[in-house]
Amino acid sequence: MPERLKILVIGSGGREHAILRECLKSPLAAEVIAAPGNGGMAQEAECFPVDVGNTDAIVRLAIEQQVEFVIVGPEVPLCEGAVDRLNQSGILAFGPNKEAARFEASKTYTKDFLARHDIPTASFGNFSDGGRALEYLETLPEESSIVVKASGLAAGKGVLIADNRTKAAGFVRDILVEKKFGESGEEIVIEEFLEGRETSLHLLVSGEQFVVLPLSRDHKKIGEGDTGPNTGGMGVIAPDDSIPQEILEEILENIAKPTLAGFRAEGIDYRGVLYIGIMLTTKGPQVLEFNVRLGDPETQLILQLFEEDIVELFKTAATGGVLPKKLTPTGQSSITVVMASDGYPDSYAKGLPIDLPHKLPEGLSVIHAGTKLDSDGNIVTSGGRVLNIVAIADSPEEASERVYEACKHSFFEKQYYRRDIGKTHANE
Ligand code: AMP
Ligand code: GLY
Repeated sequence: MPERLKILVIGSGGREHAILRECLKSPLAAEVIAAPGNGGMAQEAECFPVDVGNTDAIVRLAIEQQVEFVIVGPEVPLCEGAVDRLNQSGILAFGPNKEAARFEASKTYTKDFLARHDIPTASFGNFSDGGRALEYLETLPEESSIVVKASGLAAGKGVLIADNRTKAAGFVRDILVEKKFGESGEEIVIEEFLEGRETSLHLLVSGEQFVVLPLSRDHKKIGEGDTGPNTGGMGVIAPDDSIPQEILEEILENIAKPTLAGFRAEGIDYRGVLYIGIMLTTKGPQVLEFNVRLGDPETQLILQLFEEDIVELFKTAATGGVLPKKLTPTGQSSITVVMASDGYPDSYAKGLPIDLPHKLPEGLSVIHAGTKLDSDGNIVTSGGRVLNIVAIADSPEEASERVYEACKHSFFEKQYYRRDIGKTHANE
């Protein structure tokens, strides 16, 4: 009988609600608690109010609650060194250490790493000086598409795809001169615009080895047909069947394997999930970014698409153990649609009452993201991306039909969702 663990899930989004549910299903979990959690998580597990950026508070809670395994969901505590601190206190934790988490904390660091190891990515320049960055822009044609990124964590808001040099220069000034992104904008990346289809590859990494999680396709723009500003993600289809097997092989050969070889060469002991944003261009797959955690809302689907137990897999990665070579797919298709509050990603109302259907048809579920319990114990909205409506079915068409049928329900006032999830590709 394998050891059963008391598990703490850190985070409060849809990703963490999905992780919590998978842990609750696992025979390897003795008990599961969360911090800080959300309205949905609080109905399924005991939740503790902890600020995810406060590593002292996370360690204190884990010790007080005699937790044996901590799963860290979001990037902020990973970049703050939560896993290092937990390990120093003798507690096993899932997620990369602070050094490895630099791949998300610093886009300039990642671009330099990619260049050092000849891993395909958009051509770029890294800058910390406004004057130099603007001089570099002057070397590009006025009417070109240019991508400008704040290097640090910016919750998906630090990227501008400009269709001319003047707009790019305005964003460069916002970041480096006006300091609109604070510390996150001390450095920037200016890079070539890549055309093509986008896909998300998640690797579960255990030091020297990795196993591939199902491919997924996020829809980052707020508007249908991929229009309007970027968001944290408005919906996902998984597996991303639009990617042929030979392209996946190319991604693994030219991106995943050289990345792991680069970690090894530089003495980086990466344990956790590496999420590689990829653009499939006419020159082959290229890296858009590295994230050091599971995607949100990708997680809400991909954890349900293989047979293996996530507690066992995550524990194996955290201990640097031997991962399976391949995961066993369930063979099903899935779509999640984000039910957002009108106005997101800018300003939106909070505290709106939520009405959840009492019984959902088989294959459908609702995962909570921006929700909380109010003082009377009612579930209310507390964020821009409020709920994830999830359908798992035998085909993508069926998943789409079911999820959009469920979206007809009125969950809260002024709900907004995209009606084209799974049907469009960005940049096409
Ligand atoms: P990032 O945070 O770097 O992944 O950028 C956010 C989103 O902006 C990506 O998911 C892409 O949709 C888009 N993007 C980023 N870099 C580029 C690029 N070089 N070319 C085209 N689109 C990009
Ligand atoms: N869905 C995009 C992300 O998690 O970064």
